[in-house]
Amino acid sequence: MQANSILSGKGLTKVFGFGATRTVAVDHVDFDFKKGEIISIVGESGSGKTTLAKMLLGLVNQTEGEIHYDGKPRDIRSQRNKREYWKNIQAIFQDPFSAYNTFRKVDAVLLDCIQMRGGGGLPYEQKREMMREACQFVNLKFDELTNKYPFELSGGQQQRLMIARVFLLKPKILLADEPTSMIDACSRATILDMLMNLRNEVGMTPIFITHDIGLAYYVSDSVYIMERGRFVESGTADRVILQPREPYTKRLLNDVPKLHEPWDLTTV
Ligand SMILES: Nc1ncnc2c1ncn2[C@@H]1O[C@H](COP(=O)(O)OP(=O)(O)OP(=O)(O)O)[C@@H](O)[C@H]1O
Ligand SMILES: [Mg+2]
Repeated sequence: MQANSILSGKGLTKVFGFGATRTVAVDHVDFDFKKGEIISIVGESGSGKTTLAKMLLGLVNQTEGEIHYDGKPRDIRSQRNKREYWKNIQAIFQDPFSAYNTFRKVDAVLLDCIQMRGGGGLPYEQKREMMREACQFVNLKFDELTNKYPFELSGGQQQRLMIARVFLLKPKILLADEPTSMIDACSRATILDMLMNLRNEVGMTPIFITHDIGLAYYVSDSVYIMERGRFVESGTADRVILQPREPYTKRLLNDVPKLHEPWDLTTV
């Protein structure tokens, strides 16, 4: 592990179930994510990506292996340490709806974020300004949403609300598990753009979890290819995607035949 490591894992493993139902979802993966680096984890459905994300977040206990955060063994056994850890690592999930407590309105969701960052004692005027700014950042109108529940928002609005939360929380690491799957290609680009702006603004380390090796190529510095719970190949995005070594990586790349060619805009 090196000095600029933000999150690393050794032999990280998750086994679900016993006997006939036993599933090794994540199988002895090693990784070392550096501060500020843009990381993608790419693999097909069922390869273990979300399970790995949940272990990184501390939502699922590993069966085996170690996680280091900021150069030290991660210790989130107490609720207090866990809350402290969650200031540093936040996630945007495939299904944004599951991320919200159904019985809290949008403004309460955002106020919680301000509270978590230690702004609980600020005057309400100032908090409202912060919420407005966060909503503006993701093109949501705070005044129209403030009295709604998250389930009353569209899928795209829910996802943007999640990014507004991240804007307020300013975590060191952001895990984005298929953040763009629910929305059309146009808002997908917008959301990615927002995440990249956010990265530059707060200096966070984004980790994208996706099926889309093309997306991984365009956005990331480092790529980890996951197959049946293992990292079969990893390295810089250029190395892994332009000179893949593993048959599995090559197979994923076959689905995006145009990747190697420069875009020809003259025919558009
Ligand atoms: N709570 C659980 N109990 C039992 N098995 C589980 C559980 N969660 C995940 N699994 C199994 O672990 C494996 C990996 O699942 P995971 O959700 O991590 O895949 P994924 O890569 O995120 O897939 P997708 O791209 O479809 O989201 C799958 O075989 C899945 O059935
Ligand atoms: Mg998943």
